[in-house]
Amino acid sequence: MALLKIVHYPEQVLLEVGKPVMEDEFNPELAKLVEDMFETMYDSHGVGLAAPQVAVSKRLFVMDCSGGEDESQKIALINPKIVHVEGEQYGDEGCLSFPGIYTKVKREMRTVVRFQDVKGEKQELDLTDLPARCVLHETDHCDGIVFLDRMSALKRELSKRKIKKLQRTGKWE
Ligand code: NI
Repeated sequence: MALLKIVHYPEQVLLEVGKPVMEDEFNPELAKLVEDMFETMYDSHGVGLAAPQVAVSKRLFVMDCSGGEDESQKIALINPKIVHVEGEQYGDEGCLSFPGIYTKVKREMRTVVRFQDVKGEKQELDLTDLPARCVLHETDHCDGIVFLDRMSALKRELSKRKIKKLQRTGKWE
């Protein structure tokens, strides 16, 4: 396994729509990418990491809202598709591509997501609370949408100002 480099906003790959993973791409190379992404996510103490964040413009992400405590929550979602959302939650959110930025973001409370696992098998998950927030955030990454786009106008402005300051002081690459 290997640690991958996480790219930071406004790297172009974060703003592009990821390509679907094709049927012939479910191979050992994909399995290695997924394992490396898990290792990179745990190393950075994140609960989710999408392929565009490691400069791979593809529709897949890994997540584990238990932080490595519960094996059943360690999931790789390939070609995720949100098929249902409902309700609302308002809570703190961060992103490994925005180091040091944590802010309240409104998301749906529940989501149903269809995806393929690393073997290419079709799966579906019905999630609420933090796992739902994580799936929505990471599926956005696959669509070239970053959480800055989901903030209120005021919080977006404050976050952009903070990013500029971090860039100026060399704390953001
Ligand atoms: Ni993110």
